[in-house]
Amino acid sequence: MNNLFSRNKINIEVEMHCHILPAIGCDPEFTNQALDVLMIFQSYGVNTVYATPHVRLTRPSNTHESILERAEVFKKQIAENKIKVKLEVVAEYYVDEGLSRLIDSENLLAYPQSHVLVELPLRSKPDNLDDIIKKLCAKGYKPVVAHPELHHYLRYDWKMIGDLKEQGCLFQINLINMAGYFGEDAIAAAENLLRSKTYDFAGTGAHSRKQLQLIAEQVLQNKDYVKLLRNANFKNKMFSQKTS
Ligand SMILES: [Fe+2]
Repeated sequence: MNNLFSRNKINIEVEMHCHILPAIGCDPEFTNQALDVLMIFQSYGVNTVYATPHVRLTRPSNTHESILERAEVFKKQIAENKIKVKLEVVAEYYVDEGLSRLIDSENLLAYPQSHVLVELPLRSKPDNLDDIIKKLCAKGYKPVVAHPELHHYLRYDWKMIGDLKEQGCLFQINLINMAGYFGEDAIAAAENLLRSKTYDFAGTGAHSRKQLQLIAEQVLQNKDYVKLLRNANFKNKMFSQKTS
């Protein structure tokens, strides 16, 4: 498998969006599959991997408590397997009323400097989007909008993208979408968003070794994609937890 994050590819030391916390929602069911993905990242020279389990009203089993409990167990298994890459766990928060309530009641599971990964609904802009973004920013959080390339109402709406940026939002590409996992439209949108320098961060969005393989084959074999990604100057490094 090609080295996804190496200097001669796109040079990212931090994977910030993947679903590899075992037995949480749609993440891998088995620990060995999750360890396998972590070992691949380690072989790429990635020093920090953020697992980003979903938190949303319709998935009530993923609470902060359940995520942190699973994270503790998984971190022990990582140590037992002598894997050196640092695992961190944040959440990918779906923008719904549940998030609005969580902002009021709990500290969110955030990246360094209070960056919070948020996922918008797929098909239509939520009525309360502006309120939730304002609420997040008022609490000192910096919203990172996950995979705008997937969202029909957002991906070509430069006014909406500009307004969100003005409010303090940052944007993150999922490389699995450039690999065609969700179709040609998402690839074209991602290319456009890359050309317009919309993105601040990159993650894989991967759930499995198979999806990493797809990214390696479909994205990294494509010289135009690699060039676009390298020119994006992603700021992932700011989330590195490398200690030495
Ligand atoms: Fe995700």
